[in-house]
Amino acid sequence: MKKFIAANFKMHEPDLRAWAKFKPTSGAEVVMFPSFLHIPLFSGRKDTILGAQDVFWENLRSGGAYTGEVSAQMLKNFGVKYALIGHSERRALGDTNEIVGKKLKTALASGLKVILCVGEGEDVRKKGITSAKNFVRAQMKSALFGVKKKFLKDIIVAYEPIWAIGTGRTDKPADAIAMADFIRSLLSVSPTGGPVRVIYGGSVTAKNAKKFISQKGIDGALVGGASLDPKEFAKIISSVK
Ligand code: PGA
Repeated sequence: MKKFIAANFKMHEPDLRAWAKFKPTSGAEVVMFPSFLHIPLFSGRKDTILGAQDVFWENLRSGGAYTGEVSAQMLKNFGVKYALIGHSERRALGDTNEIVGKKLKTALASGLKVILCVGEGEDVRKKGITSAKNFVRAQMKSALFGVKKKFLKDIIVAYEPIWAIGTGRTDKPADAIAMADFIRSLLSVSPTGGPVRVIYGGSVTAKNAKKFISQKGIDGALVGGASLDPKEFAKIISSVK
């Protein structure tokens, strides 16, 4: 299976001139998550796939009275294939486990693929890896409750320990692998064959990407800060062999 490398621009303006020169050089699946506003500017590229940083949990065919929200169907109309759901920064802004579960089910039923983000805070990790696993298990359980098995193939799980996001402190590769294996074990019910991909996120840069991406148990990376510079992001992609 191809490695999966994603760029999450968060609330940053991409340098469009620099991105016009961007050329990913590996067999990885590369997905870009610009802001909603910038989605049309990244559509139509042949070398990358389009993603959205969030999606609303209601997908009414004729639209609906939800000021400020964007539906899965609207995203699909603009060529979006993936939605990021449950990112810790969205959870910090109010996305509860229940909301994450609703968004996940709606996105999948609407034909989007999903990156489901999970990961523990520093207080939990300080208590040890078992506490972190218990925390992640609870997040997974509530997000996936009621998800039909046929949709599991459309989910990629991003393990992102919150204390590693934007801090320059990555997880230890061995711990990230243990977590990825654990997450996969929670999803072993997949009837469609093909294991669910689990990627790592949290301070991935061109310098350290290989330590994570080259691992058999880690299927790729979700890159925030280091994805803003297309040259650095291209280096991260080229560390996939
Ligand atoms: P970071 O962010 O690479 O800047 O740590 C990762 C993320 O938030 O997905």
